[in-house]
Amino acid sequence: MLLHSNFNEYSFSDLKEFLAEYQYVFRVSLKSLCFWYPGIKHTYAKIPFGKHIWYDSQIVNMAVNRQLALAEKQPFAKISNPYLKGFIDGLVHLKNPYVRIYYMYRVLKPHYLNKFEQHLVSTDIDLDYGTYSFLDFSINYLREEIKESLPILEVLEDEYDLNKDSELITRLNQLWIAYQKSQLDDNYNNNSLLMMSVELTAKEHQRRLDKPERDVPVVQPQKNEVLDNTQIDLSNQDFKIAYLYANGYLELQASEIIASMIFEYFDTEWKIITDLSRQLYDECRHAQLCFRRMEELGGYLGQYTTSLLQWNYVHLGSNLVEKFIIQHRISEGTGTDASFNNVTRFREMGDEKTAKLYEFIGADEILHVKMGNKWIEHFLPDPIKRDEVINKTKNRIISYLEQEGYHIDFLSCVPVALEHRELAGFKAEEIKDIVLERNERCS
Ligand SMILES: [Fe+2]
Ligand SMILES: [Fe+2]
Repeated sequence: MLLHSNFNEYSFSDLKEFLAEYQYVFRVSLKSLCFWYPGIKHTYAKIPFGKHIWYDSQIVNMAVNRQLALAEKQPFAKISNPYLKGFIDGLVHLKNPYVRIYYMYRVLKPHYLNKFEQHLVSTDIDLDYGTYSFLDFSINYLREEIKESLPILEVLEDEYDLNKDSELITRLNQLWIAYQKSQLDDNYNNNSLLMMSVELTAKEHQRRLDKPERDVPVVQPQKNEVLDNTQIDLSNQDFKIAYLYANGYLELQASEIIASMIFEYFDTEWKIITDLSRQLYDECRHAQLCFRRMEELGGYLGQYTTSLLQWNYVHLGSNLVEKFIIQHRISEGTGTDASFNNVTRFREMGDEKTAKLYEFIGADEILHVKMGNKWIEHFLPDPIKRDEVINKTKNRIISYLEQEGYHIDFLSCVPVALEHRELAGFKAEEIKDIVLERNERCS
């Protein structure tokens, strides 16, 4: 195999198509993970899906960067093979989480791992260094993911009745076989299968419109006060564990929210997708940090009930900019205040390890909020209109929280981290308003 770094000499003609196809598959995988994982009743606490979400986002990021480096600016995937398209569309709208995740880790990912490996070892292809790295990294991630998926599938198998979807499963299997055949034979065509794929897609789409996927029974927290930063005696070991636990879940929800934004708005400007993808990596790491510290202190996953509050209110945003307002500006803005407040509190009580953890998370949060503010300004350049949309969105969330009986989360009473807010792109006037509002609410 020849390795070189001159993109002009690139001769890997079908890589472009392959990269586009893989991006599409990645989106399905992300959607499967982030839409189902909080809905899976008993397994939520036990499965490291955040890491899997991150693997997927990294692979698609590399795939896209490869295309851009090769000046083939086609970041948005299109699948031309009708059987693969039918299969994937069917999968996207499938409601049974077990079946969706089963196909993802038992069928699609091994298939693509195989394809990546074939490309890497093919002696007919000259690989430039960037493409070689992309394939090599992707292979490692995919191997890891497939290995890690085994316990996930075992737990899901216990919870979900596979036979419930037997008709759909038969159809998906037929489509998958047809896709593989079509790859072997360019002239392969079968109208009845093509019709089936169209029919399957239409039927599942209808089901999806009838009932949004997130309408699944979830366990709500018995005591939401645990999230109210100022009310907790963090020197008490049990409270500290509960607090880190709750924060770990907030970070995990952030991973899912960002993944769902990537999925839902994949056709937006490419720079937004790469920004969000980078953030996704951070959020997965934050969740891991909180859970690891919580375990060090004697806590364990599954110890407390979990909440989907953050997920629910972010999805009250009806478009991309409203989601940036809710998730980045409001929710993570307060998260930045809370992180730096935690640094002081833990440091004062001599827990330097937890203080450092929040210092690290807080530094990332500043960048997330700054990024959110950047895109809010980009979409709403007129300051009057911008304020209007921000306030309208914020009021919608506040009435949702009031209606649901919550008085926590971004309505938290932590002191505003003035200097960090400034670094996160808030203007002096805006910071003043936030301080006023918080003083009024919390006095
Ligand atoms: Fe975070
Ligand atoms: Fe964040």
